[in-house]
Amino acid sequence: MAAIQESSTNSPIGKRTPRVDGPLKVTGKAKYTSDFHFPGLLYAVPVEATIANGRIIKLDTARAEKMPGVSAIFHRENIGKISRAVLGEGFEGITDERRPPFEDDVIRYYGQYVALAVASTFETAKAAADAVRVEYSKEKPNVDTHLKADDEPQTVATTFATLKRVQSERGDADEAFQKAPVKLDETYVTPAETQNPLELHSTTAIWDGTTLTLYESSQGVVNLQTVLAQMFGLPKENVRVITKFVGSGFGSKLFPWTHCPLAAAAARKLGKPVKLVVSRKMMFQTVGHRPRTQQRVRLGATDDGKLVSLQHDYVYTTSMLDIHHEDCGETTAFHYSVPNLHVEFGRAKRNIGATADMRGPGAVPGMYATEAAMNEMADLLKLDPVKFRVLNEPKIDESLGVPFSSRHLLECLELGTEKFGWSRRKPETGSMKRDGLTLGWGMASCAWIAARFPAEANVQLRDDGTVRVACATQDIGTGTYTILAQLAAEKTGVPLDKVEAVLGDTLLPAGPLSGGSMATGSVVPAVFSAADHAIAALMGIATKTPGSPFEKRKSDELTLRDGKVFLKEKDSAAGVPFADLLKRANVRLVTGNGKGEATFGDPKPKFSMHSYGCHFVEVTWQPEIARLRVSRVVTVIDAGRIINPLAGRNQIEGAVVMGLGMALFEQTAYDPQNGAPINASLADYIVTVNADAPQIDVHFLDYPDKELNEVGARGIGEIGLAGIAAAITAAVHHATGVRVRELPVRIEDLLA
Ligand code: MOS
Repeated sequence: MAAIQESSTNSPIGKRTPRVDGPLKVTGKAKYTSDFHFPGLLYAVPVEATIANGRIIKLDTARAEKMPGVSAIFHRENIGKISRAVLGEGFEGITDERRPPFEDDVIRYYGQYVALAVASTFETAKAAADAVRVEYSKEKPNVDTHLKADDEPQTVATTFATLKRVQSERGDADEAFQKAPVKLDETYVTPAETQNPLELHSTTAIWDGTTLTLYESSQGVVNLQTVLAQMFGLPKENVRVITKFVGSGFGSKLFPWTHCPLAAAAARKLGKPVKLVVSRKMMFQTVGHRPRTQQRVRLGATDDGKLVSLQHDYVYTTSMLDIHHEDCGETTAFHYSVPNLHVEFGRAKRNIGATADMRGPGAVPGMYATEAAMNEMADLLKLDPVKFRVLNEPKIDESLGVPFSSRHLLECLELGTEKFGWSRRKPETGSMKRDGLTLGWGMASCAWIAARFPAEANVQLRDDGTVRVACATQDIGTGTYTILAQLAAEKTGVPLDKVEAVLGDTLLPAGPLSGGSMATGSVVPAVFSAADHAIAALMGIATKTPGSPFEKRKSDELTLRDGKVFLKEKDSAAGVPFADLLKRANVRLVTGNGKGEATFGDPKPKFSMHSYGCHFVEVTWQPEIARLRVSRVVTVIDAGRIINPLAGRNQIEGAVVMGLGMALFEQTAYDPQNGAPINASLADYIVTVNADAPQIDVHFLDYPDKELNEVGARGIGEIGLAGIAAAITAAVHHATGVRVRELPVRIEDLLA
């Protein structure tokens, strides 16, 4: 067992490191997007469509325009040109809703922005938005929850790639299924879910006649810069995006939404800064959601539990305006050994806001279905679900025909079994009791992609002995400031309190999206190579400055350790602080740039790279009062080297809590009459609260995955949400005997 160990050296990698930005957050000094104020600031409030399908016939702004304090009521005819963004190379130009705001008069979803009121106060802007009268020609919206794939070609365009709808195939899955001694054929449904980060989306736009500056709550400032430059016909360098702190995003802030160009267009027209904060209700309408999915899983197995066939056919909703792909089949083709397989998807267009990535897009709903099916098959076979998985553990990635870079799922299962006490499980439903409660025990495994986005970084060594590390990525609350600081500290040996980490500004070297659990893995090579270049510049100065203790030495005879330069051949006593060397040379700072290439989207990878894990769940059930609780969760994660176990554990705990929501509470419901999300508030959209949170026990394996980067760190933001819903529904079945295949599990389901 490779238990996590703190390194005995001064290395900050692998150390439980409190967030370097923690003090700013707890003292209220951290400035979030809508905390920025500017002289002459105006407030914008959008007018929302109250139909989901139809056309604007008439827009009456007369009353609103006359209200005192109103600067303008913008609509399609007076806001100025807003052009389309174009998907480009390097993961830029991405928007979820492909149509720019106000492009035409067609209404395709409830809440679509049809006008924008701008005024000197928020209250005035809101009153003016409410005073705009809109007449529509209405048609019945399609928000049907039964999903049948639209008639589409076998190859379709999606955000990141053009994809075949048959995404993976081997052997003859149908024939093998027909002949299999044990068969399972079930359909699993996950509802639309809305991300709902605590911090609302918001934009403050400033146009100075040349440059557009945007304060935005964003998971990807570089892409946002590209998109806005395209929409406004500006050179990229004339758009600056700033995102210093994000009150989380869960995927909804990955790509720009229509409120952003609207605020920018208003600022351009009025020549004043304009702030637009999306309301909580609008959060359910215009800034994305996880699509509803309907997934048919067919499994065939031998009597002794060897899988012979796996078919995964899934359909998900998209809006009229997006090309999102919800890749429910992402892990299906490699996660278990099976000779015959077929994975295929289809899409069903609906009159709803654009679907988007939500924490663990694709794999999270996908692994709910496939892992639930694995649990049901284990029951059919009368096999322990852990043992069934062990029996079907693959040796290589059978879909790509390449080895795994680093896969320790069996060890995760072993450790989880031990920590949970799984061997005491009695398989009969309703057979386990404690304190008058019926217990249910369930488990599932999980996987999540490991890859890198392109990233650049800059590292400076300064004559006051401090180090600065800069990268235009974001910290969405996950700990990226701290990771950047740890990486720079690792290379320079300078303590963390002497490292300044700077991010969230497009003036900095282009960094990765905070998405796909890829930010950490992506910044490692960029920061390390930037630090190497800065250190090389330092060594140049150390060897060339007259009077330097290292004058006339060669750079490669020197090393930087604990913030001091040493001769490699001598013992450590002779170290000279790098600040002294810089001062002696009258140099304020040395700097280095570094870069890491993308691996994401590589069509022919040498290795199959993923993180793995498993969840063991206990529920308690009181049939007398129909009370279901998740009481205990043990989660084991194999995510490579864990750079910061403190923040890492926090990610997994958060994902488990979110998984309870997925399994038991969360769903966005659309009114069949007008297409409105009808539970568009935090009172009606139920999320897990502290009182629901179980005892959570998180364990990490610690196997560095050097194929991904030098540190061996894979991502950790999303994997904890994969599989957990299947573990919970298995536990619910174990306690109650009821098999729920449509999330969320409702008490009504258990009363049947
Ligand atoms: Mo994550 S859904 O890639 O922010």
